[in-house]
Amino acid sequence: MAIMQGAQLFRDTNGEVAQLHGIGVQRFGDRWYAYGEIKNNGNLFQGVACYSTTDFVTWRNEGTVLEVGEDGSITGPERIIERPKVMRCPQTGKYVMYLHVDGKGDYAYAHIGTAISDAPTGPFEFLNTMQFRGYESRDIGVFQDEDGVGYILSEDRPHGTHIYRLSDDYLSIVEDVICLRGTNYWAGYESPILIKKDGVYYWFGSCLTGWDCNDNMFATATDLHGPWSDFTPFTPEGSHTYQSQCDIIVPLDGADQWHAGRFLYIGDRWNPDDLGNSPLVTLPIDIDDRRAVLQWRDSWDNTL
Ligand code: DGJ
Repeated sequence: MAIMQGAQLFRDTNGEVAQLHGIGVQRFGDRWYAYGEIKNNGNLFQGVACYSTTDFVTWRNEGTVLEVGEDGSITGPERIIERPKVMRCPQTGKYVMYLHVDGKGDYAYAHIGTAISDAPTGPFEFLNTMQFRGYESRDIGVFQDEDGVGYILSEDRPHGTHIYRLSDDYLSIVEDVICLRGTNYWAGYESPILIKKDGVYYWFGSCLTGWDCNDNMFATATDLHGPWSDFTPFTPEGSHTYQSQCDIIVPLDGADQWHAGRFLYIGDRWNPDDLGNSPLVTLPIDIDDRRAVLQWRDSWDNTL
């Protein structure tokens, strides 16, 4: 049995709250590796934590895989750095971490950061920050397609949310595949997620309401360039996504990650006064035939 709560704190095998805020998850081999913002002490950068699991119930603490840089550096302790996401580059075999790197206690810098490692558990070496054609980049997400091509999603307030195609080594951006504002919404969606099931792409995101929750949205397409459907909610309107902000949707089964039958939704239920103890909303999400539905459950069995 792998009983999960609808909302819960993940704890490691020592009983400590897993610092997996703004969580990203990838399966490498027979384990899932989760990366998150360490938020024990407010919102400034405290490093990136990694934990691994086989069932999303028992979590092995793999340590701090990207350390805080020196005072004054781009990854220093006065910076805001959020939403670590990792992919393994098929061409180089390296693990590449993407981060939302922002300013000294503010959100003025708005770049994408990259870091690299030979192993999913790090240590990751910080490389640099980038913007594509000067576009702002705050919340990010990542996606690897069936052909091995990597993509990064990036929220750019003046224009919308982009899907960028990465270079073969995953270290630079080579194409602005599409940039969309939300449906009847002034901006692109934050906390972007892209998954694929049976040839259909599903793009999820949240509205921009700071630490407050809102009705998150999704759209579908069969080509990343579009056309994309309208964005619509995947939880009952007004539920504010069961008081969560989407982080990641994890394919759990199937022949590969593009043909899964079961998916796990994970979102932050931010507690702005105590970010390090913000619970996660963890629910099965039904995805099929261009529909996505997230239903509330107090608890459920995630046995695979
Ligand atoms: C919403 C973003 O999704 C979070 O990662 C964080 O930056 C908060 N805004 C800060 O208000």
